[in-house]
Amino acid sequence: MTSNDFKMGVLASGRGTNLQAIIDAIENGEVDARITLVLSDQPDAPALDRANKHGIESMWLDPKQFSGKMEYDRAVAGKLKEKGVDLVCLAGYMRILGPEFIRTFEGKIINIHPSLLPAFPGLNVQQKAIDYGVKFSGCTVHFVNEEVDAGPIILQAVVPVHESDDAESLAERILVQEHLIYPRAIQLIAENHLRIDNRKVSIKESVPQ
Ligand code: GRF
Repeated sequence: MTSNDFKMGVLASGRGTNLQAIIDAIENGEVDARITLVLSDQPDAPALDRANKHGIESMWLDPKQFSGKMEYDRAVAGKLKEKGVDLVCLAGYMRILGPEFIRTFEGKIINIHPSLLPAFPGLNVQQKAIDYGVKFSGCTVHFVNEEVDAGPIILQAVVPVHESDDAESLAERILVQEHLIYPRAIQLIAENHLRIDNRKVSIKESVPQ
């Protein structure tokens, strides 16, 4: 696949700093791909403004307009297909994708999570890491499968937990790493540099790390 032929859709519900990191990495040439759609379930998600500022098509799709979760997922999948996406990136998307959506984009959905999975899946994980007393936490980019936060791990970054940390300070430090590893993982996929063996993801040797 040549430059810019690799198309991504980004699903985001909130502030969109990971989306921004991906946009920046594309603009400065670190990621050889383009975002063809940013879709949000929230009308006022700052992620939508970030997309607009960079001339990226964005849309709010209102879950209340659909009779159920499956119907909503189908509509989202339809929009992503219209845009011909090769990869769906979840970037703070606060909805759990149903099995049909996951099958539709089998092996082509990735997520960023602010802990070292499989430790602390779910929500409020920075607080959970502090409460548990771990000395290190971090973030994980992983493929999305039908189990929440349990798909094959692509990249992780480790972040120390300080005694003085609260959830906010730890989240901030983890976020810095999220913004580094998410674009890196996308580039590995765009370049077809990943090998997946069951749930073990490895980087093909020719890539400098
Ligand atoms: C990040 O912490 C990410 O790991 C989690 O949701 C948060 C999204 O933040 N999945 P942002 O919207 O990208 O700033």
